[in-house]
Amino acid sequence: MSRVALVTGGSRGIGAAISNALKDAGYSVAATYAGNDEAASKFTAETGIKTYKWNVADYDESKNGIAQVESDLGPIDVVVANAGITRDAPFHKMTPEQWQQVIDTNLTGVFNTVHPVWPGMRERKFGRVIVISSINGQKGQFAQVNYAATKAGDLGIVKSLAQEGARAGITANAICPGYIATEMVMAVPEKVRESIIGQIPAGRLGEPEEIARCVAFLASDDAGFINGSTISANGAQFFV
Ligand SMILES: NC(=O)c1ccc[n+]([C@@H]2O[C@H](COP(=O)([O-])OP(=O)(O)OC[C@H]3O[C@@H](n4cnc5c(N)ncnc54)[C@H](OP(=O)(O)O)[C@@H]3O)[C@@H](O)[C@H]2O)c1
Repeated sequence: MSRVALVTGGSRGIGAAISNALKDAGYSVAATYAGNDEAASKFTAETGIKTYKWNVADYDESKNGIAQVESDLGPIDVVVANAGITRDAPFHKMTPEQWQQVIDTNLTGVFNTVHPVWPGMRERKFGRVIVISSINGQKGQFAQVNYAATKAGDLGIVKSLAQEGARAGITANAICPGYIATEMVMAVPEKVRESIIGQIPAGRLGEPEEIARCVAFLASDDAGFINGSTISANGAQFFV
């Protein structure tokens, strides 16, 4: 029986590349999304990967959604907490709503995604938790106090989970992508995009598939001794 992988926000962008890479590696994959039914249907039609709609910011929705995935595909062995949003504003203009939305989705969303699958992983003595953080959680970013706080928080989550899960055969790791050529980044004006690329020593944006290959490796048996780590994939833009 193939292992089961859950990818939140797995219908678009980096998450879609992760879902595809895990499917190609032989996993039964469930991809979740928040509300873009059209993109999710298109993704399922093109890939055969089943999609599920729930809001990662809501604990009960996540718990019920995960129960449905496990009833359809079997116990979840690999969980990729990828769903994330931005609500950018300079700090003096950032509203409490912008702060809270990002905290609820990007940080509490990771708790809501991992917490329901954790007991099963402990019982079965195997699990892979992979959280998609960001370069901006490592270095901070103008107008992203909320986003940077959540992405730095991801690193604390995986370092703590690694210590709790190690004896139960569970690893927890984070990937910090730099700027990746997703719809979001490609939608910014060309001038802005060029100035972003100018700050990347590699001279280009990353590809979603380059992040997906990191995830597939961390999910594999070969990565069993990598636990609590942060992989930076940013074209040499920033070193920790
Ligand atoms: N793109 C980059 O350059 C970059 C760099 C560093 C880190 N990251 C991180 O990588 C991850 C993916 O980014 P991306 O650029 O691929 O994003 P994206 O293209 O905007 O896709 C986001 C995905 O997350 C889902 N989602 C958003 N809010 C959700 C919620 N509350 N509940 C459930 N699903 C939700 C979306 O669902 P819908 O389709 O329904 O909207 C979509 O499937 C994020 O965590 C982001 O912070 C991205």
